[in-house]
Amino acid sequence: MVTGAGSTPGPGVGTGKASAAVLAREGASVLLVDLHAERAEETRKMIEVEGGTAEVFAADCTKAAGCEAMVKAAVDTFGTVDVLVNNIGLASVGTVVDLSEEAWDRALDINLRTVFLACKYTVPVMAARGAGSIVNIASISALRGDGTIAYSAAKGGMLAMTVEMAYAHGRQGIRVNAIAPGHITTPMVMSIPGQTTDYVNRLREEAGLLGTPGTGWDVGAAVAFLASDDARWITGVTLPVDSGVLSVTPLAMARYIRAIPE
Ligand SMILES: NC(=O)c1ccc[n+]([C@@H]2O[C@H](COP(=O)([O-])OP(=O)(O)OC[C@H]3O[C@@H](n4cnc5c(N)ncnc54)[C@H](O)[C@@H]3O)[C@@H](O)[C@H]2O)c1
Repeated sequence: MVTGAGSTPGPGVGTGKASAAVLAREGASVLLVDLHAERAEETRKMIEVEGGTAEVFAADCTKAAGCEAMVKAAVDTFGTVDVLVNNIGLASVGTVVDLSEEAWDRALDINLRTVFLACKYTVPVMAARGAGSIVNIASISALRGDGTIAYSAAKGGMLAMTVEMAYAHGRQGIRVNAIAPGHITTPMVMSIPGQTTDYVNRLREEAGLLGTPGTGWDVGAAVAFLASDDARWITGVTLPVDSGVLSVTPLAMARYIRAIPE
């Protein structure tokens, strides 16, 4: 089950769409959950062209009823839930001073409440069969300042939930891990005004140790690993998928960034 398995329209692929596609390539039957059914439908088509199995389920995961219904649909359609990928997220820019209370509530609802509710109804299904893997798509914004107070708080909360749930449900055979994507290029990012210029693309690349662009596929590959039995002894970790951005000081990268022609 992948939440936010559609992708903001545009070129490229979002992390939920890529995760669902890679899981399907590995043999998973995937329930594609999204607020916008037509976006998840695009993902289903992509998976089916490759010979995979997927179904679409439209739900608002900020609502308990939506999450309860999606878990029921997964169990009714595929028999159980082996893997939950909590991928829904929405960037929210603003400092503690200028962000409105409404924007704070909305960012926490979309980025954190959805995780709480999806897990609330999924964990009992996994616990009943003594196995399961949950992968939370967080962000480097949980670990580094970047002017997104509510988004950062929500993603930080996700990392706290990751270790808490890994503890609380480890003896039930459930592994819980997180991924912290870095400056990847997805349709959602490219839909933000000012993000599509060559200069900004180069900034995203040169900020990382590898100096290359990252995409939703890089996150999807990491999701499939953490979800799989290859990761059977890995739980409670946060895996950065970020070209090493979290491993370096900004000072060391300055020469690469300053070399980008404006
Ligand atoms: N793109 C990046 O650079 C980047 C960086 C770090 C982390 N992330 C995280 O990766 C995740 C996905 O990012 P993306 O760029 O692929 O975004 P995206 O907008 O392409 O995909 C998110 C999907 O979630 C769906 N969604 C939104 N609210 C929902 C709700 N209430 N119920 C059900 N579905 C809902 C949207 O319809 C959309 O299809 C997010 O958690 C984001 O915070 C992205």
